[in-house]
Amino acid sequence: PPLSVIGVPTDIGAGHRGASMGPEALRVAGLLEALRERGLEVHDRGNLGGPHNPWLPPVEGYRHLDAVVAWNRAVFEAVSAELERGHFPVMLGGDHCLAMGSVGAVARHCRKAGKRLRVLWLDAHADFNTSQITPTGNVHGMPVACLCGVGPEVLTTLSGPAPAIEPHEVKQVGIRSVDAGEKRLVKQHGIDIYDMRHIDEHGMRRTMEQALADMGDDTHLHVSFDIDFLDPGIAPGVGTTVPGGPTYREAQLVMEMIADSGRLASLDIVELNPAYDDHNRSGRLAVDLVESLFGKSTLMRD
Ligand code: ARG
Ligand code: MN
Ligand code: MN
Ligand code: MN
Repeated sequence: PPLSVIGVPTDIGAGHRGASMGPEALRVAGLLEALRERGLEVHDRGNLGGPHNPWLPPVEGYRHLDAVVAWNRAVFEAVSAELERGHFPVMLGGDHCLAMGSVGAVARHCRKAGKRLRVLWLDAHADFNTSQITPTGNVHGMPVACLCGVGPEVLTTLSGPAPAIEPHEVKQVGIRSVDAGEKRLVKQHGIDIYDMRHIDEHGMRRTMEQALADMGDDTHLHVSFDIDFLDPGIAPGVGTTVPGGPTYREAQLVMEMIADSGRLASLDIVELNPAYDDHNRSGRLAVDLVESLFGKSTLMRD
């Protein structure tokens, strides 16, 4: 299907300013050209709008909750519209709170179309905090919890009265920073987390076979790619770096194995922060990896 690229220029859910420049940095790094080079039909829908970042301290465990809601309503509507016309939505973030709107729309679409959903969450963080346990109040640390129905009603009902997803529909890869209360919650909800230790012990190939197992022709695969998934040595351009992430080769294998699954149907590219980057190095790396995600490989394969 044709790709619809949607910029979401906000850092409303983050603890550092600058992810709002992510969409343009990805375009400047040549994302659209690279996708077209792959033979894909690509529509750039431009950037969504929303409240500016007032940069206030958290209130009752949330920083900027109202503005987060406003941005995510816009994301939900835009993604729903693209899915309705049969397009493949690609979100250019923007901080990771936008996944509440995008995955919410994808989940509702799957329910209506009778499709199974698999969400692959590539991240250093589990993003499963709540207002009670968050150490920061930053809502980009909460989207997975909210999507599973754990969070404030304004966010858990974005896509309808029922939780957008069930915990078994999410697989997280690359995780290496989980806050103390968050650990208890992900365990309680039974989220499948392939953390860096798992990757060290079993290798990335086996890890991805597990994360992509049990999908079928009727599975919609959504990838939520937080750039801080990558080791900061290769991708310094994020607000929340965590050492010990996947190498360049491991990241390429992740993307290639997703491409080989043939199930990818929607994508978020989030948390790229040009204010922390080195000459858009992380933006250019993201484009390189996204090429592999859409099937670019060194040799012809069958
Ligand atoms: N766990 C930390 C927090 O809640 C960091 C979250 C980082 N999330 C992200 N999408 N980069 O503040
Ligand atoms: Mn992260
Ligand atoms: Mn994240
Ligand atoms: Mn390349």
